[in-house]
Amino acid sequence: MKQMKSDAGQKHFKTVKLPSGEEVSALGMGTWCVGDARAKRKEEIATLRLGIELGATLIDTAEMYGDGRAEELIAEAIAGQRDRVFIVDKVLPSNASRSGTMTACERSLKRLRTDRIDLYLLHWRGEVPLAETVAGFEELKRAGKIRYFGVSNLDLDEMKQLWKLPGGREVQTNQLLYNLSRRSIEWDLLPWLQKHRIPVMAYSPIEQARLLKDKRLQKFAKQTNRTPAQSALGWLVAKGNVIVIPKTGNRERLKENFGTLQNPLSAVESKELEKLFPPPTGPSPLEML
Ligand SMILES: NC(=O)c1ccc[n+]([C@@H]2O[C@H](COP(=O)([O-])OP(=O)(O)OC[C@H]3O[C@@H](n4cnc5c(N)ncnc54)[C@H](OP(=O)(O)O)[C@@H]3O)[C@@H](O)[C@H]2O)c1
Repeated sequence: MKQMKSDAGQKHFKTVKLPSGEEVSALGMGTWCVGDARAKRKEEIATLRLGIELGATLIDTAEMYGDGRAEELIAEAIAGQRDRVFIVDKVLPSNASRSGTMTACERSLKRLRTDRIDLYLLHWRGEVPLAETVAGFEELKRAGKIRYFGVSNLDLDEMKQLWKLPGGREVQTNQLLYNLSRRSIEWDLLPWLQKHRIPVMAYSPIEQARLLKDKRLQKFAKQTNRTPAQSALGWLVAKGNVIVIPKTGNRERLKENFGTLQNPLSAVESKELEKLFPPPTGPSPLEML
């Protein structure tokens, strides 16, 4: 991981390198539930715009979020600055046949009001053979409608299947549930991804805010002069090869979350947190939200 000067020209933002060689912001912005409530819309758009200004140029979304409403809201937030952002979008497994992937992508592009998605993920493994989805992704790449593809919620066996397929090694990320209270991927999936240099994109990094109420985290945060959110996000960012995508629709909380980068966790602090939130002691089925 290194630091990159953002478009804003003032702030330095940490980045993570994708297998393609492209650097993306280590802290991005999630958009689950964004666009669902009319009353929140203005603040949500302002929050995404502020995030981009501060250098968090990776935005994660999915056709599933609000049935396309999150994509439509993003279109409004990025109007006039498409080239500054890196859009991660996801196709539903039920749409992920070869031709279904292509038509789902076209619909998303329309809602996003753009001509390309930067990184297009399979949201989770469904009934369609992976080979068909990858063939759809490859065709979309050739047509310039997506730049890269990846996956989400794939377990170790599924990653191994993908790795054997033609084109499967072009995968750029596996987006997974990963936070201090959800460390089960560290047993075998994370080491495999690391060995193959595939960065994890950590979703629900503060466990949808539930983690912030944890007394152990609150105590650590107080002792280290951070907020609970900054401590939880900081632990993930400190790993160096994890892209972290917290969601907030509020500018104050966005500033708090990105304040994480101003006070990085030391190795000793990370270890301290890992004692409070222990690692897995054996294999378990992949957790999802
Ligand atoms: N691939 C998948 O299957 C999958 C699954 C889940 C999520 N995701 C992606 O990952 C993103 C993040 O995950 P998530 O939305 O599930 O959970 P999250 O980022 O862990 O938490 C979001 C929740 O925390 C609140 N929050 C954010 N910052 C806060 C702070 N500093 N203090 C207090 N509350 C705070 C937000 O409320 P406010 O908005 O009111 O601040 C929101 O309710 C999603 O938005 C989505 O893009 C992917």
